[in-house]
Amino acid sequence: MEMFNRLSRLALGAALLGTGITDVLAAEPTIRELAKERGRFIGTILNSEWFNDAIEPEFEQIHKTQFNVVVAENEMKFDATEPQENEFNFAKGDKMVEYAQANGIRVRGHALAWHSQVANWVNNYAGQKDKLLAVLKNHIENVVGHWKGKVAEWDVVNEAVNDEYNAGWRSTNSVWYEGIGAEFLDSAFVWAHAADPDAELCYNDYSLEWGLREGSKASFVVEQVKRWKQNNIPITCVGTQTHIEIAHETTPQNVRALAKALAELGVTLNITELDIGFPKGSAGQLGAADYAKQGHLYRQFMDVFLEEPNMGEFVIWGLTDAHSWLDDQQGKTEGLLYDKQYKPKPAYDSIMASLNAHPASEVKSPYPESVFDTPCSGNCGDSTIAIKLATTASNLSMHLSGRTLTITGAVTAKVELFDIQGRPVFSAKNEKGSVELQGVSEGLYVVRVHEGSRNLLQRIAIK
Ligand code: G3I
Repeated sequence: MEMFNRLSRLALGAALLGTGITDVLAAEPTIRELAKERGRFIGTILNSEWFNDAIEPEFEQIHKTQFNVVVAENEMKFDATEPQENEFNFAKGDKMVEYAQANGIRVRGHALAWHSQVANWVNNYAGQKDKLLAVLKNHIENVVGHWKGKVAEWDVVNEAVNDEYNAGWRSTNSVWYEGIGAEFLDSAFVWAHAADPDAELCYNDYSLEWGLREGSKASFVVEQVKRWKQNNIPITCVGTQTHIEIAHETTPQNVRALAKALAELGVTLNITELDIGFPKGSAGQLGAADYAKQGHLYRQFMDVFLEEPNMGEFVIWGLTDAHSWLDDQQGKTEGLLYDKQYKPKPAYDSIMASLNAHPASEVKSPYPESVFDTPCSGNCGDSTIAIKLATTASNLSMHLSGRTLTITGAVTAKVELFDIQGRPVFSAKNEKGSVELQGVSEGLYVVRVHEGSRNLLQRIAIK
């Protein structure tokens, strides 16, 4: 497969040379190609807007081209999957699983036992230990059972530890802890394992990137993992959410230390919700140096991720700054890899630079090779090429909806379509606004839109 990828890239490169395209652009591998070669998973969430068909077409196009692991932002949580007692709603989660299968993407399940986003009806049983145990068991059996073999990994317990400097279990505002006690965690892992013995099972939390000091959340979690392993509780991974700010410069090395501590216990560490935000007040005033600093931090996290052999997944909590919980809920902004116009930021280049600086031969995978044989019913992106926008294409953009290619930023553009071997299959001159790509067969193509000296190339899939 790897050889095929290289050959197809070469073939496209050579063919594009013949069409004169390579003078404006270089074909680049995608993040997911480089991740897969290194035995790793790199991904982002599908935002709630995606589930509601209320997101720009660029979102999915970039998502499936660039990433090989996915998480639902809200749609696999308790309140979404069991809104009424013992009445399950899997429709949105199924939509994501189908999308992931069609595109060869691994699925993380988030989250089974969490104090937040619990369906309201559960509170009717507050303080009733036996009833709450039965409710949680039934929930886990049904949800994990429904996606058995399809969800590779679950956040079994999420955010159960108190905040920094007071590490111990979160004892207030948690219907599970207050009603059941700490045994809800152990039981949740056992029930999840029984429902899908092949799934990876994680404990997931925030502020773990603050280091292994005495009394810190990270130290407390390591102690619990030790206890769970001693007691044969089937935990296989820890997730560090890692919602940080640009000023948090020590956090990548803290994550490295946590990975090493967990390696000794035979447990994987995954970065599960990374974002590196700027203070909201700085919106509109950020310059190249700020974005470079953000890129530097992303690069450090990716370096740590690739260098620690027990790290498997690197998940960013969002794809584009146009859709991020940071602005709505956090007083932060612009923490992701793509800007609000879906243009890759320096952070994207930093991730690529780190991947390229860590050749596949030097990166160890915590997974057996078979994990990457994800059945794929559609275009899995492995033999495809990401085309980076030409710098000369400022203000020119396109998006495809069905067979209508809409162009913005041009008065009259020439539109050309090339097949994956670089052979011209369609050409139209003086196009204004949109072009109908009728008569073109289904498949992968490269589109070139140009006006004067401005060129824009993009890979599209016609379905
Ligand atoms: O579903 C309602 C909808 O009916 C209503 O119209 C709308 C109006 O605001 O609200 C909708 O619910 C929102 C939900 O997202 C779905 O969009 C909630 O208000 C909103 O609070 C909720 O926020 C989510 C948050 O978790 C809740 O805890 C964020 O989208 C989601 O990004 C965030 O994700 C969490 C992880 O699960 C755990 N770690 C932290 C991370 C960031 O907070």
